[in-house]
Amino acid sequence: MEKNNYTDLYELSIKDPDKFWAEHAKECHWYKNWDSVLDDSNKPFYKWFKGGILNTCYNALDYHVENGLKDHTALIYDSPVTNTVKKYTYLELRDEVALFAGVLDKNGVKKGDRVIIYMPMIPQAAIAMLACARIGAVHSVVFGGFAANELATRIDDAKPKIIVAASCGIEVTKIVKYKPLLDSAIEMSKFKPEKCIVFQRPQEKACMVSDRDIDWNEAMACAKPKKCVEVLAEDPLYILYTSGTTGQPKGVVRDNGGHLVALKWSMKAIYNMDRKDVFWAASDIGWVVGHSYIVYAPLFKGCTSVMYEGKPVGTPDPGAFFRVISDHKVKALFTAPTAFRAIKREDPEGEYLQKYDISCLKSLFLAGERSDPDTILWAEKKLKVPVIDHWWQTETGWGIAANCLGIKAMPVKYGSPTKAVPGWDLYVVDADSNMVQRGTIGALVVKLPLPPGTLITLWQNDKRFKESYLDSFPGYYETSDAGYIDEDGYVYVMARTDDIINVAGHRLSTGALEEVLADHADVAECAVIGVYDQLKGQLPIGMLVLNKGTVKNHEQIVEEVIKMVRERIGPVAAFKTATVIDRLPKTRSGKILRGTIRNIADSVDFKIPATIEDSSIINEMRDALIDIGYPKK
Ligand code: COA
Ligand code: AMP
Repeated sequence: MEKNNYTDLYELSIKDPDKFWAEHAKECHWYKNWDSVLDDSNKPFYKWFKGGILNTCYNALDYHVENGLKDHTALIYDSPVTNTVKKYTYLELRDEVALFAGVLDKNGVKKGDRVIIYMPMIPQAAIAMLACARIGAVHSVVFGGFAANELATRIDDAKPKIIVAASCGIEVTKIVKYKPLLDSAIEMSKFKPEKCIVFQRPQEKACMVSDRDIDWNEAMACAKPKKCVEVLAEDPLYILYTSGTTGQPKGVVRDNGGHLVALKWSMKAIYNMDRKDVFWAASDIGWVVGHSYIVYAPLFKGCTSVMYEGKPVGTPDPGAFFRVISDHKVKALFTAPTAFRAIKREDPEGEYLQKYDISCLKSLFLAGERSDPDTILWAEKKLKVPVIDHWWQTETGWGIAANCLGIKAMPVKYGSPTKAVPGWDLYVVDADSNMVQRGTIGALVVKLPLPPGTLITLWQNDKRFKESYLDSFPGYYETSDAGYIDEDGYVYVMARTDDIINVAGHRLSTGALEEVLADHADVAECAVIGVYDQLKGQLPIGMLVLNKGTVKNHEQIVEEVIKMVRERIGPVAAFKTATVIDRLPKTRSGKILRGTIRNIADSVDFKIPATIEDSSIINEMRDALIDIGYPKK
């Protein structure tokens, strides 16, 4: 860092973003330099590094192979569920990626074509992502915990030429067969991919569809390596679908140039990671954290990235994270608070931790949901390193607010992810876009342009991009998080302003869950609410109003809707509780008062809304929630 002062750097990034980002772009490899750092000729569609030509995979791998890191470990695959540890040097990973790029090319994948990747946490997933980047294809990774229906929706939206999948995932000891899910997704989707490339894992041999399915290993055995192709900075690198307010997910699009510059810079500025350091993001490649900090950013920086196929507990015990840190000399760990709550719950005294030397660990980063102070304090006490809460979203691709360890650590205020990261012009506004006073809660918004590395649009849907993020507060990006900024500039992220809930760090739309419940033949009306859960942060519960004259018993209907969610959204929704009620609390204009139900379930003091249709329903809700165990003791 040229300057080592947060305030100076922050001010420079806001007042002169061209100068700030051009300086960091120089640390990346470009076949041709950009014509302009920020192009704002087509607002609100900003382009970073317009005219620049580069290749993301080259920056992640080839550059390091050619600049002294050829024999340095790029990726460590650690899988307690298969008892495997496999390391790839930068050269080995580059060669595997170049070969798989050859496989894609041979099967007709060209620059701009989409490739869906439906794989568990195995190196082949990262190899497939990087191979797409190598040939300028646009990857879209779909998380393994989603059901076939969710995969089908993404196939129809992205229209992939090819799908790359694995035969199975392994959830602790359970084999999750991916291939039947893939086959039924393709059956359901209107759009049909030409080919599927399937990595057969020894734990499960998938049945192949002749003329469509290709065996990964057979294809690699006769492939010819492909060189990196040149792409424009503004060309799409990937689409990552995330929950919107309906069952139709939003296809967040990331570019190549801005993504490279911002992520490479963030590795030092936020995480304080240098070349050759070992970084571990304990997430999944199906989520944004996996894209940004398992695959791309650590490799851009020349670090070693750990890819872990396991859980914080149960694989085999709550010492699992500490074993990995110690075995691989991890310098910084990034995970969701829920992972530490799981460890703390099983090992409150930290006895498993005592078995390992984790002196290599210098910091723990948490994100994905609000970090409760209890968990932070516990982790600080046990790990004896700074625990950094930072706030970001799938859309932003990297941290909006953080304690930037690589610039200068700031004092911690529990409950706050510290201050806006350089690049983020963050404000709190009221419904009319007026700035509110410090300490007052409002909508957290970011003044446009967003920094590089953020979403450039929604896949083939500029209109939805504008409606979802830019229309409510003209000139600003709406984060859909509510919060406040205090006198010292510390940010507090309190709650979503839409119907998104966070279950074990996984983002879900209650609207999408309601769409599934409403499809049950006996359900007339329903509401899904995210209630507080000690382990997962939030859990969805369903309130069902049945059609008049329904004769089926209630337990059976509840069982059926739970099954429907599992089949249509996936196990990741963790939807296990629903109840039948006579009516839902509504305003006089007919709006369901979901917040009121949530307050009762969470035992939070609240005022009965003045607009409520009939306040006697509050007691009915209370009784119904008690029946299903809420509020929790
Ligand atoms: N493929 C298939 N199924 C999957 C899956 C995958 N990749 N990931 C999760 N699932 C399934 C699980 O097996 C589970 O199924 P079940 O209902 O049959 O038990 C369900 O989805 C819920 O999984 P999960 O959310 O992982 O909950 P859990 O109870 O198994 O574990 C934690 C709880 C806290 C240990 C776990 O959620 C965790 O490690 N979280 C870390 C958070 C994280 O990585 N967040 C990403 C953003 S940083
Ligand atoms: P996702 O897109 O899955 O990363 O989820 C993004 C959402 O998670 C944000 O909009 C927030 O609501 C929530 N979130 C992420 N990180 C934090 C954090 N550090 N504190 C509070 N909420 C967070």
